Parts: sequence; structure tokens; C-alpha cells
Amino acid sequence: MNLKDLYINFFIEKGHKQIPSSPVVPENDPSVLFNTAGMQPLIPYLMGETHPYGTRLCDYQKCIRTNDLDAIGDTTHHTFFEMLGNWSLGDYFKNESIEWSFEFLTKHLNIPVEKLAVTVFAGNDLIPFDQESHDKWLSLGIKEKRIARTVEDNFWIAGETGPCGPDTEIFYFRSDDEIPSTFDPEDERWVEIWNNVFMQYYKDSEGNVTELPKKNVDTGMGVERTTAILEGVNDNYLSSVWKDVIELIEKISNLPYEGNETSMRIIADHLRTAVFISADPAGIKPSNTDQGYILRRLLRRAIRHAKKLNIDVNSDFEQQISKLILNKYNKYYKELVDNEQVVLEVLNNEKIKFNRTLEKGLREFEKVVRNNEDIDGTSAFRLFDTYGFPIELTIELASERNLKVDEEGFNNKFKEHQEKSRTASAGKFKGGLSGNSEVETKYHTATHLLNAALKVVVNKDVHQKGSNITSDRLRFDFSCDHKLTDEEKQKTEELVNKWISEGLEVTKKEMSKEEAIASGAECMFIEKYPDIVTVYSIGDVSHELCGGPHVKNTNELGTFKIKKEEASSAGVRRIKAILED
Ligand code: ALA
Repeated sequence: MNLKDLYINFFIEKGHKQIPSSPVVPENDPSVLFNTAGMQPLIPYLMGETHPYGTRLCDYQKCIRTNDLDAIGDTTHHTFFEMLGNWSLGDYFKNESIEWSFEFLTKHLNIPVEKLAVTVFAGNDLIPFDQESHDKWLSLGIKEKRIARTVEDNFWIAGETGPCGPDTEIFYFRSDDEIPSTFDPEDERWVEIWNNVFMQYYKDSEGNVTELPKKNVDTGMGVERTTAILEGVNDNYLSSVWKDVIELIEKISNLPYEGNETSMRIIADHLRTAVFISADPAGIKPSNTDQGYILRRLLRRAIRHAKKLNIDVNSDFEQQISKLILNKYNKYYKELVDNEQVVLEVLNNEKIKFNRTLEKGLREFEKVVRNNEDIDGTSAFRLFDTYGFPIELTIELASERNLKVDEEGFNNKFKEHQEKSRTASAGKFKGGLSGNSEVETKYHTATHLLNAALKVVVNKDVHQKGSNITSDRLRFDFSCDHKLTDEEKQKTEELVNKWISEGLEVTKKEMSKEEAIASGAECMFIEKYPDIVTVYSIGDVSHELCGGPHVKNTNELGTFKIKKEEASSAGVRRIKAILED
């Protein structure tokens, strides 16, 4: 049995319910580009909402972290990874959490205790030393010298604000050297494999830390790293997660992995992430903003490294590699089956586009560096704007000649450009958590009304294809084969406003998935939902499976206005709308 299945089975035996992985692009959280941790889709529940599955949950979640793109190419970093997680929502706490982690590692994965070490929270002015976790580890047989205490590394929060708390991290000694008796978390031979966060606090934007209504546990274990450990390899890319992908790249390039590791790892990593981004229900395409820009950067960097390996970049190399990746994962993630053609097309189109300017861009780059001087922001921006060179590509090319790039200058130009084209939305690149602010909550309810109104006005077969909410507007993608007429737009607007003025009550009910389907509740991906679901109803005009939050009554919403209606992709239209006071 593989690690994912072992893990899920273990926690199911401990009374947990498996929840499906959420899409990589958060559905209702515009403050982050991608899910960066298993806990991200669970934030409302960590904050106190009741989860329809109960208080013990587990899953494997697709995660994407692009903050250290530069680190990709080493043995342990990946932009996309799968995170195994188990959660207690006000149920068990430190004792069981630590006990089960220990049991799973030593009894089910058969990791010898001598190879394990842990860190615990050392304590600061606000929160005391985590004596309980320390004592628990000791009682399980972890020696005192293998329990390190830190402050910075033992407090976990995703971004700047949100649920958070002290954590205890579990490390494995990944080396053939003799294991030192004292654990030093800075010693790179010790690699972190599991993080158990005891989330009992909430940090707000002013830095105030308050107690959450319940004490929760949030854990995360990376599939790639742990698989490598179990298979006894010191390079993640030599484990079964990657081995066949690397072998295929060796075959295509006719070069050995040894000596070409960095480029091969980058190609493997970036193409896998590109596959998952472009297969996501959000329908992301390469572009110069937000998720689309990340997708573009990943693909272009992969192509550049393919070129470095003398792979013919006009060949179908990326199709071969991505087909292999699609086949490896499609039994776990249905969207890879549904969207296989889309993925292959996205990758091929971007390759063709980039190849058109790559040669010219490389010539321009040669001109920029002909005097062997560092590259200023304006030149780096021109390489980006005219030749499509993402900044890290320019940095990489420059560093191959020991030259530097004025990244700040580039970023300023880039921001200026984004502001000009009005596509940047503040804060998106910072990461952090959704505020679920009052106004976003209103937009959330307005989205349900819009969905219901479109079914009445346009066609009963209109279905939601995507949704994105910021504090300035809602954006709603829906299946529809034609551009809405002015009359349709007006009628939709009028109907939503009629429902708003009727002061319809918004109610929430938990029911079985079957019951929800039978009642005709609207939902986007039924297979994604647990057996017990939450259905939000607005009067009797809308019933949708949804995690909330919503307003209590539609009379809180103000006036609904459609600002724009446009094509999103084939057969999918997009509406942007606002609420006015
Ligand atoms: N949320 C924790 C992490 O990502 C478990 O490390």
C-alpha cells in the first residue's frame, strides 16, 4: 500500500473522516493564489464553523508554494506537493495527536525511534513553553537530547493573520552517517517530515493574539519527502514519486540524471505543477497576472531548462512528460481525467508561444550583457514585456555569467505595468488568509442569488463553473453557450434585486449528500463533497451546497449591479457584479 492510502486508513481507524482534496486554486479566498497547506480550505472550521463531517478529519491536499522558486532544483523542494493532514476541530488535542503521529511513524511506517527527533515550542512573553508536548514525547521514548526547543520555528501561521498556534515538528535523520545523540534542527541531515500545530489562537492584522473558540489540531506531512525516506533515497527525485519522470527526461534528452540533476528536477517539478494548475476547475490559462503568471513562469522555465539539456523544444517533449504525470495521478484526482485535453493544449500552446520569442529574447539578452554589467530593472522588464522572459529566467541567465539583476527595479516596473492595466489586486502576491470580511460575505450570498437568477432568466441548465470574490466585486463563471443579451442581463439584475428587497432569510442545514442531491441543491463538483454536507438556502429561491459564510437575510445586501459580462472560455461566460449601498 502506498503512503497516502496507509495514512488515510490509519486515521480513519482513529475515528477520522476523509475529506476530498480541494482545488489548488482556492474557491472563495482571493487573498492567496493557491492552497499552500492542507488547512487552508478548513479555515472557517478552524475558526469555529461546524464541519459537516464532524470533528475528526483527514485528507491528502494538493498544495502549491511558489515563494521559493529558486530553491527548486535541489533534492527536497517542489512547487506542487501533496500534503497529508489530520485535524481535530475542538476534539482531541496534544496527547492523542502526538501519540498517533508516533504510532503511525514507528508501527505503520516502521521508522526506528532512533531516527526521529522533535522540536517543541520554547515559550515567549505571550505563550508558555509547551511542557505537555515535551512530556508526551519523552513518555513515548524520544530522548531529552532529541527534543529541541525553539520559538520562531515552533509557531505556525499561514501568512500574516488567521488561526495559529505552537507546533511540534517531527524530524527524520536522512543520512547514512552515524546519528548524533543531540538533535540540532539546523543540521540539514535532519529533515522535517511532520508538523503538528496546536491551533488555539487567532492573530489579527494588528498582531493581537486571541483564543479561538475551540482548541484544534492541524497537521501536515509531505508525501514526497516521506516517500523518499521510506524508500531510503536521499534525493526526493529518486523516489517512486519521480523516478519514472526523471527516466523519461533522461530518455528524451539522451543524457544521464547525474550531472544534469538541476535542470531535470526543474523540468519534472515545473511540468507537474503546470499540469495541476491547468487541470484545476478554475480554468487557469497562462497570462501575465496572478495564477496565470505563475503557470507561465513555470512552463517557460521548464522549456528553458529543456533547451539547456539540448532537448528539441519544438518537439512534443512536454506532452510526453505531462501525459506520464497525468497517468500517475489520475486515480486520485478526477479533474486530471476530465481535463486531460485542456492540460495538453495549454502546455502545447504556451510552448509554441514562448518558442517564438525565446531565440530573439536570448539574442536580446546577449546584447544587454555584452559589457558584462549587471542588468538594470528596465532591461529586465523589457526582456519580460517584449520577449516574455519571466524575471527568474533573466536572473538565472545572468547568474550563469556571475551577473546580478536589479529585481527591485524590475518589480517596480512590473507593478507600474500591472496598475496601468488594472489587473493587479492589492495583496495577492503577499499570501495570507481570507478576511471573510462582512462585504465578502455579502458577495458570497449575492453569488448564490445570481446563480439562481441566471437559471430562471437564461436557462435552467446554467451551472457554476467558478467563483472569485474580493471586497470590491464578485466574479461568477457559468456554463452558457451564448453572450447574454441586454435584456437577459437586465432581467437577471432585476430578479436578484427583487429577492434582495423581499428580505429572504438565509438558512443553513446539514444533510446527507443523497438527500441534498434529491432536494435539488446546486453544487459544483458533487464528487468533491463529503457524505454529510451543508446546504445554504435563501428563502426558497436558492439551495446550494456550500461552506459559507453567508449573511442572515438578503435585505443586508444593498443593490446588485452587473458590471460586465464576457467570455471566460469555450461555453463558459463570466459576470462581474457589485453591490452598492
Ligand atoms: N499547517 C501546517 C503546515 O503546513 C501543518 O505545516
